[in-house]
Amino acid sequence: MAQKTSTPHMEPRPPCPAAIPSTERKFHVLVGVTGSVAALKLPLLVSKLLDIPGLEVTVVTTERAKHFYSPQDVPVTLYSDADEWEMWKRRSDPVLHIDLRRWADLLLVAPLDANTLGKVASGICDNLLTCVIRAWDRSKPLLFCPAMNTAMWDHPITAWQVGQLKAFGYMEIPCVSKKLVCGDQGLGAMAEVETIVEKVKEVLFQRGSASQI
Ligand SMILES: Cc1cc2nc3c(=O)[nH]c(=O)nc-3n(C[C@H](O)[C@H](O)[C@H](O)COP(=O)(O)O)c2cc1C
Repeated sequence: MAQKTSTPHMEPRPPCPAAIPSTERKFHVLVGVTGSVAALKLPLLVSKLLDIPGLEVTVVTTERAKHFYSPQDVPVTLYSDADEWEMWKRRSDPVLHIDLRRWADLLLVAPLDANTLGKVASGICDNLLTCVIRAWDRSKPLLFCPAMNTAMWDHPITAWQVGQLKAFGYMEIPCVSKKLVCGDQGLGAMAEVETIVEKVKEVLFQRGSASQI
């Protein structure tokens, strides 16, 4: 189920963001979160994005990502796989991954773990997030923030898969080198939240979508 949260400006929640009548159209940022330990930073990332004027944020999570944050710490609508299937009962019902790709002006996948990176690179779409990505309108920006253990990062398939995503026109926000949560030191940590938010702002400016920032 979409998580009910306590942010007043988002309530009452429609069943699907595409159903929101937009009198005052905001810029819609969809955040995809996957099962990297860096998903711990989801609440901080969402709150920093919400500090940008004129932005509306919705989150799509993988099941594994849920392990790393509490939904009550994420003050926006949060969709996961169950929502996709609960929403669709008959022909006239919304198909959530299609409505979300229509709703979103920008998709930010942060963190993007090795598993979902591999799926996206090869076109696999077996959950809500990968379906949104598979159906993504490539004229809109898609930013991704890889995050994985150094050994995974150093494997040659990673560079190949990241290159594949860039070839699709998606923008990498590169990982950084630091002591990882597992104790290893090296490349693979997700970019800092500040870096990610700055990149989002940069893209908004480039597209002339955030004159008031
Ligand atoms: C504690 C823990 C931390 C993990 N951190 C990462 C990570 O930072 N990067 C990564 O690629 N996988 C990480 N994994 C493995 C992923 O969670 C695993 O590949 C999972 O299947 C990803 O599913 P998803 O891509 O559908 O979210 C971690 C697993 C555990 C148990």
